[in-house]
Amino acid sequence: MKGEIFNLFECFISESFGDETFESILDSAQPELSTQEPFIGPGTYPDQDFFSIVKAAINHTGLPLEKAAFLFGKYCFPHLGRKIPGYLNQFSHPKDFLLTLDKVIHVEVRKVFKNAEPPEFSYEDPGPNELIMIYRSKRKLYAFAEGLIQGVAEHFQTSITIQRTIIDMEEGQCIFHLKFGTSNEEDGV
Ligand code: HEM
Repeated sequence: MKGEIFNLFECFISESFGDETFESILDSAQPELSTQEPFIGPGTYPDQDFFSIVKAAINHTGLPLEKAAFLFGKYCFPHLGRKIPGYLNQFSHPKDFLLTLDKVIHVEVRKVFKNAEPPEFSYEDPGPNELIMIYRSKRKLYAFAEGLIQGVAEHFQTSITIQRTIIDMEEGQCIFHLKFGTSNEEDGV
């Protein structure tokens, strides 16, 4: 996992619970970490180190894992969005943006961030205000992905209802069925 993601996790915890909480989390995770030096953005570190720090964070903050992963995803989106300057401004609807995630954004990510292993996404397009995204990654970061999609919804100020179905536990495959609202829509009418 890229150092960028470790660094964002530190900022997320420090901003939500204070720097000292993050220091205690790191101290308690230390014996399980295979990395001894500080995590830096361009570096690439074992996924297991990331999961150990997240586990320690869960113990310290009392946040349930699902909720922590979702909130962290939501926190990450604006920060990741800024990594490709000007890109987000090209889109006025979240669906158009999300359709470029696999073949443009994460392709760019592989070029810019050495050794990056972003997840794979494939798509189905069932209708104008819907999108099916099929996520695949050995990391199985489903709730994190859902939080990122929520971050996209907030960026575009368009509600997105997300239904998540895990289809392959072994391979880490999961379907996100998204339904987009519009600002003028009155639900249920
Ligand atoms: C412009 C926006 C985005 C940028 C620049 C970006 C960049 C990145 C980077 C650098 C990583 C780390 C890869 C690694 O450590 O090897 C990553 C991982 C990830 N990205 Fe994106 N991302 C963006 C938007 C999104 C969105 C909207 C989603 C929504 C589902 C998403 C889903 C994920 C997930 C779930 C991971 C974790 C890795 C995994 O599941 O295996 N990303 N992304």
